[in-house]
Amino acid sequence: MYAALRSIGAYVPPKILTNKDLEQMVDTSDEWITKRTGIKTRHICEDESTSDMGTKAALKAIERSGIPKDAIDMIVCATISPDYFCMPSTACMIAKKLDLSHVPAFDISAACTGFIYALATAKAFIESKMARNVLIIGAERLSAIVDYSDRTTCILFGDGAGAAIVSATEDKQEAIVDVHIEADGKYYDYLITPGCGTNKPCDEETLKRRECFIHMKGNETFKVAVKTLTSDVRDILEKNGIGTEDIAYFVPHQANYRILSAVASALKLKEEQVVVTVDKYGNTSSASIPMAINDLYEAGKLSKGDLLLLDAFGGGFTWGSALVPFAPL
Ligand code: UT7
Repeated sequence: MYAALRSIGAYVPPKILTNKDLEQMVDTSDEWITKRTGIKTRHICEDESTSDMGTKAALKAIERSGIPKDAIDMIVCATISPDYFCMPSTACMIAKKLDLSHVPAFDISAACTGFIYALATAKAFIESKMARNVLIIGAERLSAIVDYSDRTTCILFGDGAGAAIVSATEDKQEAIVDVHIEADGKYYDYLITPGCGTNKPCDEETLKRRECFIHMKGNETFKVAVKTLTSDVRDILEKNGIGTEDIAYFVPHQANYRILSAVASALKLKEEQVVVTVDKYGNTSSASIPMAINDLYEAGKLSKGDLLLLDAFGGGFTWGSALVPFAPL
């Protein structure tokens, strides 16, 4: 049994936060943000939760898959901005909103690599015949965990959700070729919400130090990300005997235009192969890859059989890559 990517869907909240808006909030400039990150706008939730957005993305993915909702036998949601601290999982909230009961549902915490971890999980469950139709979601309301008085992070992040249906197939042509995931916890404090977990429970002091928000060693993270992603992507191509000319689209996690373009140029990918959405959406962590694939789909650029090369890097550190043909029914 193999696993195939059947469909994609995404949702972004309507409110847009521009670089000009951020100029009014912190000491920054449109010029600095554009030059250092490539970001111009990001979408921000007003009254929607992570699971609200995940559900909307999921409904699109389900409808486009041609697979009946009731045939879904597992829900996996990657997020670092869950509706509730600890429990219930955002996947359970999405299951409730989709009216899908008696289906296993759980979250994955792998930061910006979350969607690739969810893809690896779906593939493993399908290949081991423990599931047939898995709904995977990357959904983030990062604006709820971003400190809008910290100019080094608040300019980067946005909200949104993406979802996909991964299904069993016996046709090897349709199969996900490979997924690679990895982590190195020695970098745990490079990208971290230091307070309000059980390590430093929420109290006045943690709140005063704004430790419930994202803190990042940006420049150090940048360097490790470029180096790690370049070798990770080279490895997955080499291992599977696939050349860059076989790739229809390179869909990297959208953290920073400078990171994704450095990796793309190291691999000598052509401009038209590289999917860029960071300018519109900023960094939406686990949602960025499915949102980018959805942009391709809605632009009518994604055809059956197109081979996608995915890569991501995030807090933990975690990273991963995948070779995935688009395989609608
Ligand atoms: O998605 C998960 C993985 N995340 C990433 O991979 C993100 C990785 N990091 C980055 O994308 C970049 O490091 C940033 C965009 C966060 C920062 O860019 P940078 O080129 O690494 O800048 P920097 O941190 O070295 O800061 C350069 C200068 C500093 O000023 P001084 O010390 O040179 O006087 C900062 O204080 O830019 C200053 N700065 C800003 N200036 C205007 C930092 N943030 C801002 C800002 N506006 N928003």
